[in-house]
Amino acid sequence: MISALFIINNKQYTIECEESWTILDALETLRNNTSTPIHYRHSCHHGSCGTCGAIINGIEGLMCLTKINELLQERKSLNGKGIITPKFDNGRLVVILEPLKKASIISGIAVYPHDLFQSIPEELSYKKIITRNDAIQLEADDSYTILYEEYNRDTQYTGAPIPEESVFIEKALQRNKLELCIECGLCLSSCPENFRGPAGLAAIHVDLHKHPTDDETYKKLLELARASDGFPGCKRHINCSRVCPQGVAPARRIQELRIIKDDE
Ligand code: SF4
Ligand code: FES
Repeated sequence: MISALFIINNKQYTIECEESWTILDALETLRNNTSTPIHYRHSCHHGSCGTCGAIINGIEGLMCLTKINELLQERKSLNGKGIITPKFDNGRLVVILEPLKKASIISGIAVYPHDLFQSIPEELSYKKIITRNDAIQLEADDSYTILYEEYNRDTQYTGAPIPEESVFIEKALQRNKLELCIECGLCLSSCPENFRGPAGLAAIHVDLHKHPTDDETYKKLLELARASDGFPGCKRHINCSRVCPQGVAPARRIQELRIIKDDE
């Protein structure tokens, strides 16, 4: 066990925690042992829902994936050039939690990063509902048959009914249409520039590749990417790709948008 001093919205809390705990584990324990309300968001506890983002000792991260023992080590600073060394107060590891920037604060460090994609018109949005026909245009390879066999083996433990192979594969293909981004807002918060933002441009990049280059939607998406709040607003800090927990690599996607030529 180690002793940690959590500083949340300028209030201080001392907590005894295991080094293997995540920040979220520590907050849950703290909340159960204090009468002071502590406001934060979470749901899945495993890096899927994107709700638990915060600035943790100066760097954006998901509280459910960031462990106490990581904060005990030296970490690269956000710009990748400096080193953040752990700080201690009377032997307690200092953990400062701040709400994400450029997000709506609900309360405490609970935020709603709702600005990520809202400026992308709905008809162009990568979030538009896909039809069954769109989904089955993807081709299944052998891995889907293996997946099906594994699923069937697992049914002896799960008790789930065994679906027809074709139905199973069609559903698996539909799941693969989902994008990686969990809309956590870490990238937007970490970027010092004011523009459409890394996640929004990454979404445009993803969607562009779903349309032929002579398609109207392709042209409109490219127009959005090239607008003054599009990639010209990016000054290549690359913080977004450093903090993204999903490997979406927004900085690379923005760079790829820059080099698209009109006749491509
Ligand atoms: S691109 Fe990455 S950091 Fe940005 S919102 Fe999506 S998952 Fe989060
Ligand atoms: S609780 Fe879901 S991503 Fe952290």
